[in-house]
Amino acid sequence: MVRIGILTSGGDCPGLNAVIRAVVRKVERVHGGTVVGFRDAWRGVLEDDWEALDVARCRGILPRGGTILGTSRIQPYQFPDGVEVVKATMARLALDGFVVVGGDGSLGAARDLHDDGVNCVGVPKTIDNDIALTEMTFGFDTAVHICSAAIDRLHTTAEAHDRVIVVEVMGRDAGHIAVRAGLAGGATMTLIPEVPFDIAEVCEALQRRHAGMSYASIVVVAEGATPVPGTMPEPRYEVDRFGHRRLGGISQVLASEIEGRTGIETRVTILGHVQRGGTPTAFDRVLATRYGVGAADAAAEGDWGRMLALQADRIVRVPLHEATGRTRFVDLELYDEVARPFFAS
Ligand code: F6P
Repeated sequence: MVRIGILTSGGDCPGLNAVIRAVVRKVERVHGGTVVGFRDAWRGVLEDDWEALDVARCRGILPRGGTILGTSRIQPYQFPDGVEVVKATMARLALDGFVVVGGDGSLGAARDLHDDGVNCVGVPKTIDNDIALTEMTFGFDTAVHICSAAIDRLHTTAEAHDRVIVVEVMGRDAGHIAVRAGLAGGATMTLIPEVPFDIAEVCEALQRRHAGMSYASIVVVAEGATPVPGTMPEPRYEVDRFGHRRLGGISQVLASEIEGRTGIETRVTILGHVQRGGTPTAFDRVLATRYGVGAADAAAEGDWGRMLALQADRIVRVPLHEATGRTRFVDLELYDEVARPFFAS
């Protein structure tokens, strides 16, 4: 009878509860096993903070954002005896292994733990959609919906004032959210980390568009976008206690350059954590449920060291080693062929 631990690790995203619910239902109802949920990711494993999860406990959580287990960016490798403590918890609770629901950092830790003798299966979670070997992480679709709905609203206020509005969206070093939300929202232009932008080109395009007539423009900028080096000031990013750059702020610098160079009144909207909050879309609920079912099956079969992935609409298992440690960037064909032609026209 399989007995697994589950944890949700790293930044939260819509659909985490749907994964937890699916894992619990499949393990309990089909595999006849049990599930233990650890609070605040690896902190719960390291500090023996957990709860037994069953179908009754998971009732009603499918549409809820956040995670009933809480999350943190704590990883066992941040502590000298971290791996040994994880192994001790595993033995004490008689666990066969862990389902780790996380982004690249958490899945990388799951890969290393697996190498060190701790059984792990990974589920790819992030609104950024930047995990290799899977076509889609859950949470991404919800974030794109939220951003495109916000862009729809910004169009009307920008039109009323003939303004440029710069909208900053998340995504870290990848521009997936920006490209999809920009396309869906009919943005005037979309700037992504994969292609450093030329501020002179941006301003010329806006000036052409606004010349002599009333116009509004929406510039979507991914938080990780950068200008061509040396062409304009860049924000200074702090590094958090886990070594991650805390992105955010490129839109303000960009807006002040646009206004300064073109004279067009420009405003900024940073969508921020609203992109990660609230109920998941139907697509994300389905995807998260499919990932959860797949993770429960992999654990029940003892097929550890794998990550669930979406490929050609099928849930498949890929080695954690191949899926982690690299970023999946925007397909530049999509950007050049579909997004660029709409810019500033
Ligand atoms: O990785 C998800 C993400 O939302 C990124 O898009 C963003 O840069 C980061 O997390 C924000 O992290 P935090 O919630 O720690 O500020």
